[in-house]
Amino acid sequence: MPTTILAIESSCDETAVAILRHEPGQLEILASEISSQIDIHREFGGVVPELASRNHSLHLRPLIELALANAGLKIHDIDAFGATAGPGLASSLLVGNTTAKSLSVATGKPFISVNHMEGHLLSPFLEAPELKSNLALIVSGGHTLLIHMRDFGDYKLLGSTRDDAAGEAYDKVGKMLGLPYPGGPEIEKQAHQGSATAFDFPRAMMKEGLDFSFSGLKTAVLYQLEKLDPEQGRAPKDAIPDLCASFQQAVIDVLVTKTLRAAAQCGEKLITLSGGVSCNKTLRNAMQEACDQNGLELLIAPPALSTDNAAMIGFVALHSHLRGKKSSLHEDINPNLKL
Ligand code: KG4
Ligand code: ZN
Repeated sequence: MPTTILAIESSCDETAVAILRHEPGQLEILASEISSQIDIHREFGGVVPELASRNHSLHLRPLIELALANAGLKIHDIDAFGATAGPGLASSLLVGNTTAKSLSVATGKPFISVNHMEGHLLSPFLEAPELKSNLALIVSGGHTLLIHMRDFGDYKLLGSTRDDAAGEAYDKVGKMLGLPYPGGPEIEKQAHQGSATAFDFPRAMMKEGLDFSFSGLKTAVLYQLEKLDPEQGRAPKDAIPDLCASFQQAVIDVLVTKTLRAAAQCGEKLITLSGGVSCNKTLRNAMQEACDQNGLELLIAPPALSTDNAAMIGFVALHSHLRGKKSSLHEDINPNLKL
C-alpha cells in the first residue's frame, strides 16, 4: 500500500504545498507548488512579517487545491498531513501549521509537525535511493550549520555561525551594494563578471574549529565601500562585480574548508549540501572540486528543492509517519525551534 503525504511550508516568504507518494523503494513527488512573495517584499528590502502571513493566508487554500488537482487526488486520499512548526516567523508558521492541523481534524488523518531545518537537512536525499550517514552543511538565510547525520533523527551539531548566517551575509551585502532583495542570487550574477582576487576580504576563524562568523566580512565590505566612495559610501557601478566576486570567494573558502574539516573529524565520506545558498553554482563547483580532491562523495538537491519548498517538509513527515510517529494537535509552533 502506498503512503501519501500532503505537506505545507510557510515559515518565511514562500507559501508551499507538496504531495509525496511512497512505496517501498520508491518515492514520487506528485506535486510541489510554491507561491513566492519575493516581489512583494522586494520593495521593502527584506521580509515584512505582517505582509508575509497575510499572503500565506491568501494563497494557501488555492495552492492546496492546485497540488491536489496536479496529483489527481482528493483530500481524503491523503494519509497524513505535515507542516513546518519552526524555526521561522511566528505569524507565518501559524498559517500553514494551523491549516494542516485543521485538515487532520477534518479527515481524521494524523498531523506531523516538522522542523524546517530537518527538511533542508534531508532534502539532498529526496532524489536519492535511500538515506545515508553523512556530514551535512546547511546554508540558508537564517542558518549555517555543520551536522553529522548518522541516521534519521540522529543528528549531532558540529558547528554553527556565531553571528550572521551565510545567506544573511549575502543579503546584507547585497543591500549595501544597492542590489535587489534577496542579495544571494544577485551577488552570484554580478560575481560572474568580476575578479575574486580584486579585494582581499577576511576569512574568519579559518585556521581551526567548526564554527563560522560572517559579520566581520560584511563590515570589511562596508569599509571598502567607504574607501571607494568617501562621500556617500556607495559602490561605484564598475566596482560592484569585483566586490561581489571577492566577497563570494571569501564566503565559499570558509564554507568549503570547514566542511572538509568536519568530514575528516567525524570520518564521513559523504557530504551533503542544502539550503538556499547551496543553489550558488560557484559554491557547488568549489565543493565538488574539494570533494573530488579528497576522495569524498557530494550530494546536493536540485535548486528547486534547495530553497524553501514543501517537498522537503513532506519527506521528513513521511519518514516520521513510516516510523509510526505523529504529533499532538496541541503541539505549538516554535519560531526558535532547534534541530
Ligand atoms: O533556504 P532558503 O530558501 O530560506 C531559508 O530557510 O532561509 O534560503 C534563502 C537564502 C537567502 O539568503 C538567499 O539570498 C540565499 O538563500 N540564496 C543564495 C542563492 N540563492 C538563494 N545565496 C547565494 N547564491 C545563490 N544563488
Ligand atoms: Zn529554509
